[in-house]
Amino acid sequence: MVPALKWFYQANIGRIIARLCAQSCQAVTLRRFIIADFSMYICPLCRQPLQLTTRQYQCAARHSFDLAKEGYVNLLPVQQKNSKDPGDNKLMIEARRAFLQSAAYQPLSDAVNELAVQTNPATVLDLGCGEGYYSGRLQQKLNPAARLYGIDISKAAIKYAARHYAAIRFAVASAYQLPFADNSFDSIIRIYAPSDNAELQRVLTPQGRLISVNPGPEHLIEMKQAVYRDVKLHSDAIKQEPGFNHIQRQRLSYQLVLTEPQQLDNLLQMVPLAWKFTSDNRQTFVASTRTISIDFLLDVYQLAQVTP
Ligand SMILES: C[S@@+](CC[C@H](N)C(=O)[O-])C[C@H]1O[C@@H](n2cnc3c(N)ncnc32)[C@H](O)[C@@H]1O
Ligand SMILES: [Zn+2]
Repeated sequence: MVPALKWFYQANIGRIIARLCAQSCQAVTLRRFIIADFSMYICPLCRQPLQLTTRQYQCAARHSFDLAKEGYVNLLPVQQKNSKDPGDNKLMIEARRAFLQSAAYQPLSDAVNELAVQTNPATVLDLGCGEGYYSGRLQQKLNPAARLYGIDISKAAIKYAARHYAAIRFAVASAYQLPFADNSFDSIIRIYAPSDNAELQRVLTPQGRLISVNPGPEHLIEMKQAVYRDVKLHSDAIKQEPGFNHIQRQRLSYQLVLTEPQQLDNLLQMVPLAWKFTSDNRQTFVASTRTISIDFLLDVYQLAQVTP
């Protein structure tokens, strides 16, 4: 074989097999197993690269992390946990799932996808991906050879996500100590999720982009009006991200027509504001509200160029 061809073959054999399998294998577990093989994970304990050996990720110091039967890996060591079961719990995840499945935030998912595909990224991270709704829809729009990773500190969320989206690599991990090598991602999606600026800079490639979604001024204003006398709007000021240039802002606003009271009940379970309701005014609010204001700010940042 011509040396260059041989090199290409050796470097890409995992990817080639994964693609073939993704297209033709019925065995989901086998597909997951092979897809996970070319990883960008690093050990959360000693920061050395992780290699997949049979069904375990292992570093040179022999720290090992099992691949769960659902296909995800838990890279959250106990030292990085701030509680026994950090992140969103099963009830919150189920409520979010039911709400998102109603297509109420599909316009947001579409807008995020449009921004994400602008640069045709080969590697993408969905930070604080929850149960995987946005990752799952993004996967459909990315180049088929692109690698999409999702992390969340909630094990219940990642379990759900991995069960439903076999082609995406999911890990339980902290956004504050990302288990990825430097310069791993062309794009990071951050939808209502926490992050650490230095970690974002570290894991992005030099041309990498951060797509960030936050509430706009009018977001869920009816809910606020139901619990506060003086309603404070969300700020629409562009958040400065040290080390990044802000390059694009999109505002997405619409009136969501609620199809059934349960939909609003699910939305209430997703938002911290729900704690401000008494059970009586929550019932009244759910029974009397037919539409609700949705207002998102989508901001795109690019790593500021480091001058030599
Ligand atoms: C508001 S939810 C957003 C989930 C998803 N991006 C969406 O919009 O549907 C925030 C998510 O961040 C996760 N989270 C909270 N703290 C985290 C951390 N330190 N590292 C990673 N994920 C975290 C939660 O478990 C939850 O799934
Ligand atoms: Zn290690």
